[in-house]
Amino acid sequence: MLGPVKVVVPGGTGQVGGLLRRALSAHGHEVVVLSRHPGELEPGIRHVGWDGRTLGPWATEVDGADAVVNLAGRTVSCRYTPENLRQMMDSRVESTPVVGRAIAQAGTAWMADIGAWALRTDTELLLKSRRVVPGRLLDAGFEFEHPQWPEAATDLVQRVRSRER
Ligand SMILES: NC(=O)c1ccc[n+]([C@@H]2O[C@H](COP(=O)([O-])OP(=O)(O)OC[C@H]3O[C@@H](n4cnc5c(N)ncnc54)[C@H](OP(=O)(O)O)[C@@H]3O)[C@@H](O)[C@H]2O)c1
Repeated sequence: MLGPVKVVVPGGTGQVGGLLRRALSAHGHEVVVLSRHPGELEPGIRHVGWDGRTLGPWATEVDGADAVVNLAGRTVSCRYTPENLRQMMDSRVESTPVVGRAIAQAGTAWMADIGAWALRTDTELLLKSRRVVPGRLLDAGFEFEHPQWPEAATDLVQRVRSRER
């Protein structure tokens, strides 16, 4: 039997969300609904604000959650005019990556905490040190041509491919 878990439900105010949040809550689980218009829901269910497009304080709810069920998106119960179709698509395309970023961020924080513990340091110091300029390597004559990883990776792949030809 599954013990109580925490579930975050973006768009949990809708038709499917109503069924899901009440069922989860009735089984003793912690439910947090993300909505653009947070208000009163059933007792025990928390209702937190978000805009469905950008990261915000709501993302802290995702950190430590056991599951996220994203139901956000403009209703499909309407006439399929070009404008309505665009809104249906945009609301799903914009909300999905931001939920993904919140999950990724939560995972990173969790991993960083363990990494910091293993290195006997502080999580904040560990994260900040990712941006430290490698002074000793510069002193030893190394040069860094790419400040960002995507450019460095592209350059690396090009070099490897040119050697293979
Ligand atoms: N109902 C079905 O039978 C069925 C079947 C197959 C698939 N689905 C899919 O399952 C999902 C949920 O369905 P549903 O019937 O529960 O939908 P719904 O009743 O329309 O509820 C969706 C929720 O998404 C939020 N939302 C609306 N526009 C948004 C926007 N622009 N940005 C962010 N959030 C927005 C709304 O919450 P707030 O206003 O509180 O922010 C709304 O309560 C949808 O993706 C739907 O296509 C549903």
